[in-house]
Amino acid sequence: MTGLTRGLAGRTAMVTGGAQGIGAAVAERLCAEGCRVLIYDKSAEHGRAAVDAWLAKGHEVRLAVGDVTDQAAVKAAFADVPDEWERPTLLVNLAAGFVFKGLEATAEEWHAALDPTIVGLSLVTREFVAGLPERGADAAIVNMASISAHIAQSGYLTYNTGKAAVLGFTRCMAQDLAPQGIRVNSVSPGTVWNANNERFHHEALGLDRATAESDPEHGGKFLLKRFADPEEIAAPIAFLLSSGASFITGTDLPVDGGYLAV
Ligand SMILES: NC(=O)c1ccc[n+]([C@@H]2O[C@H](COP(=O)([O-])OP(=O)(O)OC[C@H]3O[C@@H](n4cnc5c(N)ncnc54)[C@H](O)[C@@H]3O)[C@@H](O)[C@H]2O)c1
Repeated sequence: MTGLTRGLAGRTAMVTGGAQGIGAAVAERLCAEGCRVLIYDKSAEHGRAAVDAWLAKGHEVRLAVGDVTDQAAVKAAFADVPDEWERPTLLVNLAAGFVFKGLEATAEEWHAALDPTIVGLSLVTREFVAGLPERGADAAIVNMASISAHIAQSGYLTYNTGKAAVLGFTRCMAQDLAPQGIRVNSVSPGTVWNANNERFHHEALGLDRATAESDPEHGGKFLLKRFADPEEIAAPIAFLLSSGASFITGTDLPVDGGYLAV
């Protein structure tokens, strides 16, 4: 592949949370770029369905089922990379704790929010880095932040705190891993129309996509007056992993239809 996503063909990528939603779109995009993709997801059901569909298309994909907070399972997933694949040199950290609470959050709810988003992120990144050579792997990591990392939203204390921490994690890791030539960046999407968001808008707000996008409190907050499709997040992630982004590290790329611009 040439152009903005050059240097991805033949590489092995690990995608956490790759069974559904944005992660599945990232996996598909990386497959299309010629990568071999290892999906690490806690949902065996969704992971199996996604991986079977990609295998049927001829893509080189593999599923490891586990939680990002389970250190032994994370280690086993990296150890299970097929012999004929190179070790993963690309990592996309998407798994997160989806807990939306304010100050009423209990200690358990804080753990459910932050353990996957931050502790899991750290465990997966550590295992990934441990398998890399001292230098020269052209390795790259993309972490999933959100517009929620940059703004205040009522009732989102637990989620937004975790996503803001992803920005700090990304900067520190970029500094610490630069001597090995490993680039680390994050992306901050706005609302992405996936199954979860469709369910939430329908059940909690009584809105379908068209009505939600035309509502000033929802789609209307984006300069582009709409939500994103998962593929629109996958494309900039593929770019940040590629050698087209060889001088980009330690930063966050908003992929937000202009939400943070105003
Ligand atoms: N959907 C949006 O509007 C949006 C916007 C900004 C950022 N994000 C972020 O993008 C990422 C993906 O979100 P999505 O909406 O596509 O989610 P999703 O629910 O569609 O998919 C998340 C996947 O992650 C897996 N997962 C969750 N916790 C896990 C864990 N502890 N260990 C292993 N796997 C785990 C789930 O099984 C699922 O397959 C998240 O980090 C989310 O915070 C989403």
